[in-house]
Amino acid sequence: WEFHVDTVRDLNMLRESVAAFRAAGQRVALVPTMGALHAGHVALIEAAKRPGTKVVASIFVNPKQFGPNEDLARYPRREMADIRLLNEVGCDLLWAPGVEVMYPEGFATNVSVAGVSEGFDGAARPGHFDGVATVVAKLFNQVGADAAYFGEKDFQQLAVIRRMVTDLDFAIEIVGVPTQRDDDGLAMSSRNIYLDDDQRRQAVALPRALGVAARAIARGEDVAAVLDDARTALVGAGFAIDYVALADAETLVEQTEAEQPGAGRPRRLLAAARMGTTRLIDNIAVD
Ligand code: PAJ
Repeated sequence: WEFHVDTVRDLNMLRESVAAFRAAGQRVALVPTMGALHAGHVALIEAAKRPGTKVVASIFVNPKQFGPNEDLARYPRREMADIRLLNEVGCDLLWAPGVEVMYPEGFATNVSVAGVSEGFDGAARPGHFDGVATVVAKLFNQVGADAAYFGEKDFQQLAVIRRMVTDLDFAIEIVGVPTQRDDDGLAMSSRNIYLDDDQRRQAVALPRALGVAARAIARGEDVAAVLDDARTALVGAGFAIDYVALADAETLVEQTEAEQPGAGRPRRLLAAARMGTTRLIDNIAVD
C-alpha cells in the first residue's frame, strides 16, 4: 500500500515541509495528539481534511501536562500503529518531536491561562492546563497552521485553548469536534484500555448519568438535586467522583442554580470520576 504520511522529528524539516505545502497553494490544518490514536482522533483528522488543505497531525506525550502521581510512564505509546492509521485516514504529515526537541536544556517558559483553567480539571490536576497551554502554544508556532482541531471530549482544554488564542493573538482558527463514543455511549479515550472488562461495563454509567442530568436541568429541575442524583448513580456504579458540575460553556464559570446572571447562555455539564486507578472525563451540552 501507498505511504503518504511523512514522519518528521526535526523542526527545520517540519518548517520545510509546511513551506512546501504552502508553495503548492494549500492551507494547513493541525491536529495535536498524544498518540494511541482511536476513532476520536480520526474524527478530528476527518474534520480537518478539506479540499485545498494539508493535514498535519502531531504526536507528543507531553510530560509537562502530567502530575507527579499521574500516568506519564504507563501512558500508551504505539507509534507504528498510529502511523499506519494516519496513513489510512489520509493525514499528510506527522510531526513527532522527541522530548529534547520540544523541551531542550534550558527551557524556562510557562504559558498559564487564568480563570478558565482554574476549576474542574484544573483544580483536580494542578499545573495540567499550564502544561497543555505551553505545549499547544509551541505546536502552533512550530507548525504555523491556519486552523487547529480539538475534541469537545476535553471541553475545558478546548476553552483554555480558545482563551489563549484570543489573548495572545495567535493567527489560527480553533475548531471543536463533537465527542466520539463507543456503541454504549462511553466517550472514546486512550485511557479506556486501562479498564478491565467489569470496569468497562460499569463505565457506561458516566455518559448515562450526564445524559439523564442534562435532560432534567433542561426541563428546569433543581440543579443541585439533579447533580446529587448523578453523583449517587456514579458512586453506585463504582466511581469515585472528582466533580460533577454545571458551567457556562465558554467561561466555565460554575452555575449552582438554574437562574443565573447571564442565563440563556450555553451551558455544559462536566464530570470527572475514577474507576479504580483510571480517571475518566466526559461532558454534555445542556439545551
Ligand atoms: P489526546 O488526549 O491524545 O487528544 C488529542 C485530541 O483528540 C484532543 O483534542 C482531544 O479532545 C481529542 N479527543 C480525544 N478523545 C476524543 C473523542 N472521544 N472524541 C473526540 N475527540 C477526542 O488532548 C490531548 O491529547 C493533549 O492534551 C494535547 C492537546 C495533544 C496537548 O498535549
